[in-house]
Amino acid sequence: MSTDIRRRARYRTWVRGTRLRRFAAVSGVCLAGSALSPLSPWFLLFLIPFALFGYITMILALTVYRLAPRGGDLQRRIHELIVAKLGPVPAGRVLDVGCGSGSLVVKLARALPDSTVTGIDFWGRDWEYSKGQCEDNARIEGVADRTAFLQQSGAAIEFADGGFDAVVSCMTFHEIREARRKSDGVVEALRVLRPGGRYVFLDLFGDREFYPSIEDVREAVARAGVSITELGSLADSVPLPYPLRHPKVLRHAMLIVGTKPSGAGR
Ligand SMILES: C[S@@+](CC[C@H](N)C(=O)[O-])C[C@H]1O[C@@H](n2cnc3c(N)ncnc32)[C@H](O)[C@@H]1O
Repeated sequence: MSTDIRRRARYRTWVRGTRLRRFAAVSGVCLAGSALSPLSPWFLLFLIPFALFGYITMILALTVYRLAPRGGDLQRRIHELIVAKLGPVPAGRVLDVGCGSGSLVVKLARALPDSTVTGIDFWGRDWEYSKGQCEDNARIEGVADRTAFLQQSGAAIEFADGGFDAVVSCMTFHEIREARRKSDGVVEALRVLRPGGRYVFLDLFGDREFYPSIEDVREAVARAGVSITELGSLADSVPLPYPLRHPKVLRHAMLIVGTKPSGAGR
């Protein structure tokens, strides 16, 4: 495993930069508006939206800080938790659904030196992730020869049933717009897991905005003919500092871990 020591891998956080900049710009305009109209009715008309948008901007900015290396490196720690939950996997093929900038794929490749790891992602325009960024990161981290990155949708994965020995996914299923129900993404990811294979999924499974109930997720996993060995809140495994435990950030994030029974059909 040779590491490119001339450059450092760059992993983006889960907060879209465009969203943060948009809220910061609106907050700035509202603040300027209220500062320019003291003692007039416009003052309050600008101040109230400033309070709202300013609060959202602060939550987003602090979330970026907490996820990034200088603020506790929570994103790296969460990826490491997923790798640890997967445990030792016999030499084989591992898939990450929604691989972003390749951080989890690289960590899996480093932890599983006898395996190849494939990352798929839609890499839509509203995200600052790309296939090239993943490939650069894998090269810099010395795992380019055992990793592959492909543009595919998690709604219709272009691999055969049972093609992978392990499947992981982190904070992606709720983002799949094409899925009629967000839990359909879970079923699709489990389709490509081989009987006897292991999976670890982290997503906002406890958030009613995306999943009607945790039972909906349990049913989806059962529909795929797979068992759940562990289901719990992310906060039980990783202490979440403010604002990561905010309901609109990671409070509803849950981990599900399990194995596809050996007798399950492909
Ligand atoms: C919050 S990010 C998580 C990225 C990565 N899993 C990580 O932990 O760093 C959500 C990811 O879902 C991806 N995504 C959105 N829709 C998708 C789809 N239909 N198929 C695959 N990936 C998708 C986005 O491109 C983005 O990389």
